[in-house]
Amino acid sequence: MMFDRASVIIKDGKKLSFDHVPENLVHRDEQMRRLETLFRPMISGGLPCSAFLTGSVGTGKTVTAKRFCEDLMRYCAANSRQMDRIFINCRIRNTEHGVLIHMIRHFDPGFPERGFSVDEMLRSLRRHIESASRPFVMVLDEVDVLLKSNSRNLVYQLSRFTEGMRGGSSISMIMISQENISDMLDDASMSSFRRANTIRFDRYTEEELRDIVLARAAEALVPGAVDGDVAGLIANIGKGYGDARLVIEVLEKAAYIAEESSEGVITADDARSANAMIYSNVSENKLADLDLKKKLALLAIARAIKGETYVSITRAERTYAVVCEEYGQIARKHTQFWTYIQDLERMNILDTVVRSEENGGRVTYISIPDIPPKELAKKLEYLLDSPIANNECEF
Ligand SMILES: Nc1ncnc2c1ncn2[C@@H]1O[C@H](COP(=O)(O)OP(=O)(O)OP(=O)(O)O)[C@@H](O)[C@H]1O
Ligand SMILES: [Mg+2]
Repeated sequence: MMFDRASVIIKDGKKLSFDHVPENLVHRDEQMRRLETLFRPMISGGLPCSAFLTGSVGTGKTVTAKRFCEDLMRYCAANSRQMDRIFINCRIRNTEHGVLIHMIRHFDPGFPERGFSVDEMLRSLRRHIESASRPFVMVLDEVDVLLKSNSRNLVYQLSRFTEGMRGGSSISMIMISQENISDMLDDASMSSFRRANTIRFDRYTEEELRDIVLARAAEALVPGAVDGDVAGLIANIGKGYGDARLVIEVLEKAAYIAEESSEGVITADDARSANAMIYSNVSENKLADLDLKKKLALLAIARAIKGETYVSITRAERTYAVVCEEYGQIARKHTQFWTYIQDLERMNILDTVVRSEENGGRVTYISIPDIPPKELAKKLEYLLDSPIANNECEF
């Protein structure tokens, strides 16, 4: 039967989806620790706490908040304490009304869409929370959407909610936003929501992205499906964005591409094809605009890499000599070849990395993250064969 065929690469595809919350978040220990510290009063005394998570796209704010809440729930369950959390994405529920309905439905799933004023809903929510008599954590994700619209009053109301709350209940808040919200909140809300509670999420570095790729691969794919070099190549694609979402997307696409082939691992070319599907830096225009010398240098590198992830500059240079001869051009000296490489790197067409060798020497390696080298070579050969490219004057 067709669907009985076992997966060769993908063990559990759900683990690559955006809403999966990994058990362990690599490189977010510091943020988790700060959340723990800020929420200690809630755990020990049921007191209201607050935190504000900020950082650019794909830096793990949402997933860290979710992980933290799940860990809190587990801790409380194991220690016979009660707590609950309500997670709201304010971009999806972008009105006071929408947010409140979602919160009330946490207690009363049948609560009607229409028929109640905001004040009535606030009172209803309060009653539910009080009668639950336990601490609550409310996560307002992408809260800036709410603050920028005319629903900022709701944030204020919620942050004041805890005052005079009966029955051992309290409300703690985690607010999340890419932008800083302190200037969007008025002074009154700011006082209950102190500036000191900000937790910053920096863009991931290339090394951190590589670890994230490996961690997610370990969860979702069969052992050995991604080696360190290929993970590095995927991280290299996301470098500069610092966005974990982007590299996980490439990993997922690459895994499905690899699943089709019979190699049993994700190859460097699978990763490149996946990236080309998502976003390619190597547009036809960019290649056509290269002068003859750089076209030849790039063709040499593309041919020298073949199916590998990296090629050393020495090997690339040897191929460069052959390519120049083939096109009737004089191969430039090493220093000149090196400046071509630097130019191509600046144009985001290739990437270089310096590695220490066993003998203590340092060698420059070149990679082409964005496009399978074979495809790149084909495009360049086509361009080099067209008369315009060959008419180009040399200096
Ligand atoms: N440290 C990490 N380890 C494993 N996966 C991670 C890590 N950080 C982020 N991710 C994953 O990367 C993706 C993006 O993370 P998340 O959604 O938390 O970003 P965000 O900071 O909320 O971005 P946005 O501002 O766009 O909402 C998610 O699929 C998440 O599971
Ligand atoms: Mg988010």
